[in-house]
Amino acid sequence: MAVLTCRGLRKEFGGHVVLDGLDLTVAEHQVVALIGASGSGKSTLLRCVNLLEELDDGTIELDGEEISDPRVDPDRVRRRIGMVFQSYNLFPHLTVLQNVTLAPRRVHRRARADAEAQARDLLDRVGLGAKADAYPDRLSGGQQQRVAIVRALANQPRLMLLDEVTSALDPELVGEVLAMIRDLKADGMTMVLATHEMGFAREVADQVCFLDSGRVVEAGPPGQVLGEPTQPRTRQFLRRIIEAGRL
Ligand SMILES: Nc1ncnc2c1ncn2[C@@H]1O[C@H](COP(=O)(O)OP(=O)(O)OP(=O)(O)O)[C@@H](O)[C@H]1O
Ligand SMILES: [Mg+2]
Repeated sequence: MAVLTCRGLRKEFGGHVVLDGLDLTVAEHQVVALIGASGSGKSTLLRCVNLLEELDDGTIELDGEEISDPRVDPDRVRRRIGMVFQSYNLFPHLTVLQNVTLAPRRVHRRARADAEAQARDLLDRVGLGAKADAYPDRLSGGQQQRVAIVRALANQPRLMLLDEVTSALDPELVGEVLAMIRDLKADGMTMVLATHEMGFAREVADQVCFLDSGRVVEAGPPGQVLGEPTQPRTRQFLRRIIEAGRL
């Protein structure tokens, strides 16, 4: 069964149609990369899936449950989804370790020692083990973003939504985050990520979805969508990316 099924998603902001009958299916253990021009609806789609935006039409299913049903408790859904935003949102008054263990302890009721051991293990994996007791304002932006990813992972989510997680990082740190996502994929994590990095999409994704004006115009394996696109809009987009030296 699919982990995530989006059918006919429609979202408008003040009469401006941002998602226009969007369909997306994500199978278990699959990594799906959303690509497309700025404003094509990638972030809006991820925010709708995490129930941060109300849909105007369409349905979203998580593990077969219709989570877009207004009667569903959004907090209960968000416990099963890990989301990392373009800008990290760490609690400034909590240390890195406290940021990472907050939800596992409070929401998932995990024992402190257990939650902290898992958090330290995850922090070690992204090279931040030594920062466990630091406050966010003592970390670089890139380090804060990696902590934000670790914090989402600590909830052991069913699905990870990653929105431009590498855009704030210098190239050295991008590699570490990619390695982390590769490990996650090897562990079977199901992920949807929005990215402008075509190399990133090609490397980690099982499926690449090209969004244009709030629809999935073309979807398939990275080699096909990035290498032999069939749709004129995809070709046009990739041509611009190539011209900008980003493919
Ligand atoms: N809360 C909002 N209110 C009004 N308009 C919005 C809101 N959120 C998004 N939009 C608009 O919806 C459109 C899609 O935005 P979205 O952030 O989903 O694009 P994106 O594909 O993620 O772009 P980028 O690659 O720049 O991150 C844009 O035109 C944006 O201005
Ligand atoms: Mg975006």
